[in-house]
Formats: sequence, C-alpha cells, structure tokens
Amino acid sequence: MNETVNRCEAQLADWLQQAFRAAFGEAQAWSGIRVQPATDARFGDFQCNDAMQAAKTLRRPPRAVAEAALAALPLPPMLTRAEIAGPGFINLTVSPAWLAEQLAALAAAPRFGIPDAGQGRTVVIDYSSPNVAKPMHIGHIRSTVIGNALDRLYRALGFRVLADNHLGDWGTQFGLLIQGYRTFLDDAEREALTVEALERVYVQSYNRSKEEPAWLDRCKAELVKLQQGDPENRAIWERFIAISRSEFDRVYRRLDVSFDLTRGESYYNDTLPATIQTLQEKGLAVESEGALVVKLDDEGMPVCIVRKSDGGFNYAATDIATVRSRVAEFNPDRIVYVTDERQQLHFRQFFAVCAKLGYTTRLEHVWFGLMRLPEGTFSTRQGNVIKLEALLDEAERRALEIIKGSNSDMPEAEQKELAAAIGIGAIKYADLSHDPQTLIVFTWEKALALEGNSGPYLQYAHARVCSLLDKYAEQVPGRDPLGNTLLLNEPVEKALALQLMQFPAAVLRAAEACKPSVLADFLFGLSQTYSSFYQRSPVLKADEAVRDSRIRLCAMVAQVLAEGLGLLGIRTPRRI
Ligand code: ARG
Repeated sequence: MNETVNRCEAQLADWLQQAFRAAFGEAQAWSGIRVQPATDARFGDFQCNDAMQAAKTLRRPPRAVAEAALAALPLPPMLTRAEIAGPGFINLTVSPAWLAEQLAALAAAPRFGIPDAGQGRTVVIDYSSPNVAKPMHIGHIRSTVIGNALDRLYRALGFRVLADNHLGDWGTQFGLLIQGYRTFLDDAEREALTVEALERVYVQSYNRSKEEPAWLDRCKAELVKLQQGDPENRAIWERFIAISRSEFDRVYRRLDVSFDLTRGESYYNDTLPATIQTLQEKGLAVESEGALVVKLDDEGMPVCIVRKSDGGFNYAATDIATVRSRVAEFNPDRIVYVTDERQQLHFRQFFAVCAKLGYTTRLEHVWFGLMRLPEGTFSTRQGNVIKLEALLDEAERRALEIIKGSNSDMPEAEQKELAAAIGIGAIKYADLSHDPQTLIVFTWEKALALEGNSGPYLQYAHARVCSLLDKYAEQVPGRDPLGNTLLLNEPVEKALALQLMQFPAAVLRAAEACKPSVLADFLFGLSQTYSSFYQRSPVLKADEAVRDSRIRLCAMVAQVLAEGLGLLGIRTPRRI
C-alpha cells in the first residue's frame, strides 16, 4: 500500500522522473522520486525532496542536480512554476486549470477516489470483545469505537473485513456465577435476569469464596460440570450469554456498530487440546512447574503459559487456537486486535508463539490508553465501573439540551434523533480524534464544544455547507453543482482544492497506521480551510461563473465531510 495515491503527486513525480532521466540518463534510482504536498504554501503547492539523495548517487552538489533536472525539460502545462530552494528542494506550483481537472476527476470517482488498496484481501478485526455477565464499561468504548472505525476504513479500501466480537464467554468465573445464581437470586430475579444482577452475584460469590473454602469447592465443582457439558449448567451459561448479548446489542445499535462474527472464546474450546499438542510436537511447549509454557528468551519476554498447572487452558491458549482457526478458515492478510494497553505483553507473547508455529499472517495489536474521566463527569455511577449506557444517555441528554436551545421549533422526535447523532458523534469523535496510544481526559465541554476540534463542530460544518447548497438550489433551480465548471483563481480556492485532493491518501494512511485520528485530523483541517474560504469568498453573491464554481467546491466539501465522518462511524445530519 505504498504507492502514491494522490493523482496530482503521481503525475508530478512522473514528470520529475522523466526530467532526471533526460538530464542524467536512465537509472533505477529515478523511479524512487516522489512528490508530496508542500510544507509551506508560500513556496508552492508540492515539493520534491529527492534531489539530495540523487546528488549522492551522482556525486554532485544537490542544487546543481536539481537545476540540471529542471533545465532538461520544458515546463509542462500542469505547472506554472518549478523552483529550487535551500539545499535542493524542488518546489512546484500547479496550474489552476490542471488542478481543477484533477479534482473533478477525483470527485467523479466512487467514494471520492478512495483507492482499492485491499483488492479483496482479508482482514480480521477483533474488537469490542467484552466479557459476558459483566456490564460493558468505559474501557470497552475505545475498543468498540476505534475498532469500528478501522472496520469501516478497511472496508472502504476494498478489503474483505471480518469484524469479530471475541466475547469473553469462558473461564473460571462461570463456576462462581452458576453457584451464585442458584443461591443468591430468587425465582423472580432469575426470571427477569439482567447483567447487573449477574454482576452482583459474581461479586457476592467471589467474596464468599475468599472466606469459605467449601463455597469455593462447590463453585469449582459447578465449573467442572459446565466444562463436561452438564445440560443444566450449560443451559444456565447459555442464558448468561444471551442476556449479556442482548445488552451489548443495545449499545452496539446506539453506536451503529455491527459484527460479521460473534465468536466467543468458547467457540475454540474443542480445538485447544490439538493446538497445544502441536506446540508440544514441535518442541515449542515444555513442562515447567506443572504448567506448560513456551519459552520466549530469544524474544526477551517471559514465558508464555499455555496450560495452567491445574490442567486448564488459558487466555493465551485460546488466542493461539483462534489464530489457527482464523488462518485456516479465512486466510487473512492480517488480523488486527484492539484492546487497552494493559494487554500488550499478552499480545506480544502469543504473536511470538504464532511466529514460531510458522504463521505468516500479519498480527497487529492496536492498543490504546485508558480514557480518564474527571470526577463528576457522570451523573450515574455504579460502584467504580461507569456503565457505557449511562455515558451514552448522558451524551444524548446534553446534546438534546443544546438542540432545544438552538432548534426550539423542531418537532420533538426530530430533536431526539438529532440529539442521538450529535451526542454519540461527540463521544466517538472525542476518542477518534486522538492517537489511540495517548491517554484521553474526557470532558463534556470539549466533546460537545461547537467550536474547536469536536464531533459537533464537524457535523455543524457539514450541515452549514448543506444549507448553502439548499439556498443555491433555490436560487438556481434544477442545476447540479457537481456539473459546474471549476475555477481556482483565488489562493483560498486553490488551497481548498489541494486539501480535498488529499482525502484518499488520508484514508489510506489512517488504515495503514491503524490510527483513525489521521483521518480526523484531515477532516478538521479541511473544515478549517473551508471556513477561511467561506469567510473570504462570497458564494451566492459572487458573479455567476465564480458562484457556480464555488458552490461546486462546497458540494465537494460536503461530500468529503460526509464520507469521512461516515468512515469514523459518525452520522452527518443535513440539517442541524
Ligand atoms: N475480553 C477481553 C477483555 O475484555 C478482550 C479480548 C480481546 N481479544 C482477544 N482476542 N484477546 O479485556
């Protein structure tokens, strides 16, 4: 995925490569010459930094190399200027007409030119993955939101994506839960079972197991029965999963998140013995103090335990078996896991084990820092875990308050729908606008701010462009702005066009680096350029040809904002 995706840059690089060939003859090195956006718009629109490298190959001073290359060919029509600066940077200024043509072609391409980088290759994205019988908490929101943005990005880039919600639905906690469920709940509570009740049961059962060895033994016995397939325990366990899933699904619906697969850890149970046996046969797993471990000394890591001393398989064993199953079934190019930073060692360890097993699938752990919440952020608190649903409720409540203030004449149902789009969008954007690997301190003021780098700000920016388009439609009925002729004579118009051209590259970079923040940054930058364009260049009041051109630029901005926010999983209502 390293090719230049920006069509302007690709053509300019092509021309420069020819210039180097004309000046210095054929050489392999010239095909590496690239062009990128100018770091400073005062010097040009694009720049090439490769003359310095070429100078080394040619053993000549870099400026002389750049000069000779530029002198070798006449300036093509796409350029109005090509200049050398500093030690040998080549600065290129493109002609407005050519840029307009390039932009028009991009806008005509599906999804504003997002390239087919995936070409049908498969990516498994393992995200959200909460644990059964526990409420989804604030830690799961980042996995869900980041994972879902990656899911959308990869899909848009032509990958076959399998979004897999790897539920934590197996483990020793089920012994405690089953025993507690039978003991601590009455018939009515069992009938109307909720995840909250299960969480209470767990805490109670756990505490009792610490005080009363006989209780712990009973829990262990229930676990063994479950593992051996006892129908009654199995039915109770399945009920825990069903109740949890319906609660998770409520959250996913509100977040516009859906999965292709929801295979819990238990799905791989039957394959664990064979997986571990392979490790043993290959001499990779050895006994150590009763447990079975894979040594990772060469990798500089502690041993990876794959079977505990009590004979039970653990988290690592399940993850290794999961890779094996996914590779066999889907033959993925890569598997991406999204979890919080505390699991880094676990992933590095089992990735190392998979490498030893000979798996070549690229395994990537996208870890994120936990979101910190200043005291008093939420109105509803339960123990120390903040329930995700409470967070979403609060976001919608606050958004509704704002909307009631600004759109008092809007019907209530519409206000509520808008509040959901803005409230949820605010939460998602507060997360996605940061590099995943940073700690976020979440505040409502920032998340819901109408100015600055926030979700609502971008949604408003989009809606304002849409309303401008509506006014144009009233003024010039029946004309599609996308058919208008583009004129890019003003510097702000050109700047906006150059920035729009960067959309496909931003999408690609965000996916490549597994950082949706790259796209968020791009969208924020675009909306800022748009706002200075809008302040300096009247649209509807301009002369006809200029007006028509500018409204076409506006239509493109609306299209890219909607497309881009859509890739982040953020809705873009046309009217706010
Ligand atoms: N269930 C785990 C948790 O809540 C996350 C699982 C991540 N995926 C994986 N394949 N290990 O922390």
